[in-house]
Amino acid sequence: MKNEMKSFQIRPVNNEDKAWIAKFHAEQWGSAVSVTRGKAYQADSFPGFIAMNQDRKAGLALYRLDGKACEIMSMNSLVEGIGIGSALVDAVKDAALKAGCKRLWLIITNDNTKALRFWQKQGFRLAAVYPGSAEKLRRLKPEIPLTGDDGIPIRDEIELEMILQ
Ligand SMILES: CC(C)(COP(=O)(O)OP(=O)(O)OC[C@H]1O[C@@H](n2cnc3c(N)ncnc32)[C@H](O)[C@@H]1OP(=O)(O)O)[C@@H](O)C(=O)NCCC(=O)NCCS
Repeated sequence: MKNEMKSFQIRPVNNEDKAWIAKFHAEQWGSAVSVTRGKAYQADSFPGFIAMNQDRKAGLALYRLDGKACEIMSMNSLVEGIGIGSALVDAVKDAALKAGCKRLWLIITNDNTKALRFWQKQGFRLAAVYPGSAEKLRRLKPEIPLTGDDGIPIRDEIELEMILQ
């Protein structure tokens, strides 16, 4: 944290958060379905963390444990630039380490240059690019638009990873 005065708290999601998670995910990502690498998941089925800022939900990170790997399924901050995103990454990283994971990874689409910057600044490395894979995602989730951030056509998935030790 750049600023010692932290105005938010991070807590794990619980069963009472499920309805909010489904609604929030739909608002942020087009529907309550989360798609990566040709698979579809219900966003409210994941464990995760919520950032609380003065009693209001100000951020959400969801993840999926799969053997020794942990996939970050979504990351959203509603109050940017005060450390919420970074704190959510730290919380997921801790949970992954506690679960014995050796690899933390995630998928972004090619239009999300802001996320590409964010994840690299968090220490993630480029692991793979899947040219044209957004077409398959769109078959599972038709809400994925043809054009994304900054008018960039959404075509490819980019995989980023952090090796945990
Ligand atoms: C990407 C995203 C999660 C970042 O969240 P955020 O809460 O703004 O993240 P942070 O506040 O931790 O970091 C953002 C910047 O603020 C800086 N910052 C953090 N705490 C700070 C503080 N107290 N004072 C000043 N600056 C601070 C960070 O250093 C960082 O700066 P940098 O980018 O130059 O390194 C957010 O922009 C978002 O929700 N985007 C839309 C959804 C998305 O694309 N998600 C990622 C794909 S899954």
